[in-house]
Amino acid sequence: MHNRKIIIAGGTGFIGQELIKFFGNGNDLVILGRQAKNQANNRNHYSDLAADDLLRTRYVQWDGKTAGAWAAELERADLLVNLAGKSVNCRYTEANKQEIMDSRVNANHALGAAIRLCKKPPALWINSSSATIYRHATDHAQDEFTGETGEGFSVDVCKQWEASFYGESTPATRKAALRIAITLGEGGVLIPYFNLLKFKMGGAQGSGKQMYSWVHKDDLCHAIGFIHDHNELDGTFNVAAPNPVPNRDFMTALRKATGHVFGLPAYSWMLKAGAWMIGTETELVLKSRCVIPSRLLQAGFSFRFPYIGPAFEDILKAVPAKQYSWFKR
Ligand SMILES: NC(=O)c1ccc[n+]([C@@H]2O[C@H](COP(=O)([O-])OP(=O)(O)OC[C@H]3O[C@@H](n4cnc5c(N)ncnc54)[C@H](OP(=O)(O)O)[C@@H]3O)[C@@H](O)[C@H]2O)c1
Repeated sequence: MHNRKIIIAGGTGFIGQELIKFFGNGNDLVILGRQAKNQANNRNHYSDLAADDLLRTRYVQWDGKTAGAWAAELERADLLVNLAGKSVNCRYTEANKQEIMDSRVNANHALGAAIRLCKKPPALWINSSSATIYRHATDHAQDEFTGETGEGFSVDVCKQWEASFYGESTPATRKAALRIAITLGEGGVLIPYFNLLKFKMGGAQGSGKQMYSWVHKDDLCHAIGFIHDHNELDGTFNVAAPNPVPNRDFMTALRKATGHVFGLPAYSWMLKAGAWMIGTETELVLKSRCVIPSRLLQAGFSFRFPYIGPAFEDILKAVPAKQYSWFKR
């Protein structure tokens, strides 16, 4: 994709940074975030982009709630990607739950209102959702056609997130919601796993039988480009590698890729105590997520990293060994 205007709302986080690296070569990028940033930030962050391309990436401040001055940035955009939302990696207190929900729904309302102000609205709006919308599945994989949604707070968030997205009337803008699986890259979810490895705790979590749906960061970026390039595609897509694995196999592949010979398991009771101490929820590791990307596969999308082993090998090339081992530099 070249010489396109791409807006990334909530683009300052883990996935946003990957999209900036991916689309930053040869496109005009506008990153909507709640803090004011300047070009100096760009240069520090994206050293692998050419100087000319860095000048084509701009940060613009928004509040994630109301269509303010930033709304003019959406004029004539080719692609709007919305990633905004409070991280779910926290204790589910009432206040946090409210913010997790509101930040996603409000961002959608604000973007919908901004699109309606445009003379030439964005051609495509891709919104993040999560593969956690599906039920705890230990029997068979869940896809967009026959998958069943689950229950509980995180599922409710996904449902309202998608409902608010589809509820925004934007007749001239194609729409796609991405039910993204746990995304693997140099940062994000792998950081706590690296810490577990350092303490020789890189064994299975819980029973180890719960399924783990994941996607390599490059496949997520390519999937967004693919949907952009295929005008006939819209609606809801699972963005998960076609081969989810049991948690036990996920941890075995991670140990192999990082050179750890063994790792102690973390039983459910340990996770419950540990999660309380580090301020997160055990659901994030104990839920069985078994999701497959039927719609992308049917449309002809080919995953660069369909299997977990090569995905880890690729990501770890860019991670200094000292992050996951006391002894390696
Ligand atoms: N990473 C994954 O494995 C994964 C998997 C499935 C779905 N997702 C979803 O995909 C999206 C992006 O994921 P990510 O890993 O890049 O998340 P992230 O690193 O937490 O980034 C999310 C961004 O949302 C913005 N944000 C936070 N609180 C906000 C609020 N109250 N109002 C408006 N904006 C707010 C932040 O930008 P500012 O602080 O600059 O405003 C932040 O950079 C999230 O919605 C996440 O739930 C992620």
